[in-house]
Amino acid sequence: MCNSIAHYGIIRQAALAGALKFDSLDPRAYARGPHRAVDDRPYGGGPGMVMKPGPLAACIDAARMSRPGPVVYLSPQGELLNQSLVEELAALPGLILLAGRYEGIDERIVESRVEREISIGDYVLAGGELAAMVIVEAIARLLPGVLGNRMSAEQDSFSSGLLDCPHFTRPERFEGRNVPPVLLGGDHEKIRQWRLTQALVRTGERRPDLIANLDPDQFRLNDEQVELLSTYQLEQEDG
Ligand code: ADE
Repeated sequence: MCNSIAHYGIIRQAALAGALKFDSLDPRAYARGPHRAVDDRPYGGGPGMVMKPGPLAACIDAARMSRPGPVVYLSPQGELLNQSLVEELAALPGLILLAGRYEGIDERIVESRVEREISIGDYVLAGGELAAMVIVEAIARLLPGVLGNRMSAEQDSFSSGLLDCPHFTRPERFEGRNVPPVLLGGDHEKIRQWRLTQALVRTGERRPDLIANLDPDQFRLNDEQVELLSTYQLEQEDG
């Protein structure tokens, strides 16, 4: 599953550019016994199965022999992923992403080998593989030499702490809807102001939590942004 995802899109491009090396290990290859079982019933009873510690320990230890970076376990109990965490992870020399299945993994593996636990959102997946690949893709597009236009990673949603502005391409009129005239005018300063206002308004309307959570040391509305917002509000009131 992970290898096939790694063969598409930006992860593949990052690998071809030499910016990223991805591989995967199957815990089953480290399991003993005729059935190579990687899961077992939970102590204390209850539904579902738990991943056995033995094969996971051997698999993680094999991974650590030649791969740098912390062991990150994907689970709904982890720290919530966001763009600043992605940026932090992208700066590391590597990552060992541990994907659980079933009800989870034996807690002793978390205690002995997991350095960080990350969740990609408040919902439950059947396993951590897709969550791991979400992290790999989010990192891949930040690596030097991967995105065609280096600016585009800096300009998109969240990297400034705000949601992205709307985008338009040809044709100028589509199904009776026009591209905002400011974008056709070629006045780059006006366009920059329009985009910033849109980003501010969108963030305020859709994700007020992002505004509330902005780190005041990293992001404070500057005079220009306050001015743009009040101009926008006045325009709205005037209809
Ligand atoms: N595994 C199952 N659900 C998950 C989630 N929300 N995030 C990360 N890993 C998970």
